[in-house]
Amino acid sequence: MSQKIYVFDTTLRDGEQVPGCQLTTEEKVMIAKELEILGVDIIEAGFPISSPGDFRSVEEVCKAVTNPTVCALSRAVKGDIDAAGAALKHAKRGRIHTGIGASDVHIKYKFNSTREQIIEQGVEAVKHARTYVEDVEFYAEDAGRADLEFLARLTEAVIKAGATVVNLPDTTGYVLPHEMYHRIDYIMNNVPNIDKAIISMHNHNDLGMATANTIAGIRAGARQVEVTINGIGERAGNTSLEEVAMTLKVHKDLGFHTNIDSTKLFPMSQLVSQTMRMPVQANKAIVGRNAFAHSSGIHQDGFLKNADTYEIINPQDVGVPKSSIVLTARSGRHALKHRLELLGFKFDKPQLDGIYKNFLVLADEIKEVNDKDLVKLVRA
Ligand code: KIV
Ligand code: ZN
Repeated sequence: MSQKIYVFDTTLRDGEQVPGCQLTTEEKVMIAKELEILGVDIIEAGFPISSPGDFRSVEEVCKAVTNPTVCALSRAVKGDIDAAGAALKHAKRGRIHTGIGASDVHIKYKFNSTREQIIEQGVEAVKHARTYVEDVEFYAEDAGRADLEFLARLTEAVIKAGATVVNLPDTTGYVLPHEMYHRIDYIMNNVPNIDKAIISMHNHNDLGMATANTIAGIRAGARQVEVTINGIGERAGNTSLEEVAMTLKVHKDLGFHTNIDSTKLFPMSQLVSQTMRMPVQANKAIVGRNAFAHSSGIHQDGFLKNADTYEIINPQDVGVPKSSIVLTARSGRHALKHRLELLGFKFDKPQLDGIYKNFLVLADEIKEVNDKDLVKLVRA
């Protein structure tokens, strides 16, 4: 039977950390309502201690949504946890996400601490967070570069202290997919109380591996994914929600599903891009402008014969109205004929050959030939 993967959206927290992408409370509330309609299970709404504005945003998101759990970030510091607990006061289901660095480089240089002190601080943070909410997620920052045996001990200790979810982030986007599988598999098999908590994936995209690592983590036992719309986030970004949701949908054979309504993915991507003033790259998987556009003659010919030749996703399944054929100097006669027919023109083969010759000259000159250009060309 297919197993559920919980989708934890951090567009409003990790995504919003991107320079220039800051949101007002009203914008956060508007996006949170759409995330609820999209079907996410958990919304990380902000980092309440960071500013009065973000504290208010978390409060207002709690009031605005009903079904998703609302999560607030904190460091493993009493004041942060108190602020997160207070901001979640109105949540129907609230979660505090607290944690600390777990790799030796973080322990030594960021915290000037020791592994044992880190375990102690993590345990205290989880216990304190549990005084506010029953649902506490612990993050072991930079888990991707942490010593595995230590990570297993830390995971065991925070679960014992009351953590319901343990997030093992690849904070620096360093890990390779086969290593991620091995690391999560190790945790699943070497933490005695692992059945009392859910393991979460939070992978950054510095080497372009975020989605692959997240899928590898799921295959090894993780049951929550921390993702953002359009993959926005610190540096090269986070794991993209649409990529993970569609990978699990396209590869049903993996045996996992999410609650995401995939037909809302494209409109959601556009909303986040416009609100955050962050353009989506044209070739972005699933939601980019070119994700369902065919421009070379070889591809266009196959696509026009049967869309399955070059599309593994029906565009309407992700909310894109239809695929497109772009006419360029790399396009073939088949695509030109098809477009001319859509415009109401019918030509025999010699006529089409003539038009195609002139079309290529024009396309070399202007790069992309639109319908207006084509009509002009035909009339001439
Ligand atoms: O990348 C990271 O490690 C984070 C944590 C705060 C969860 O964003
Ligand atoms: Zn992050």
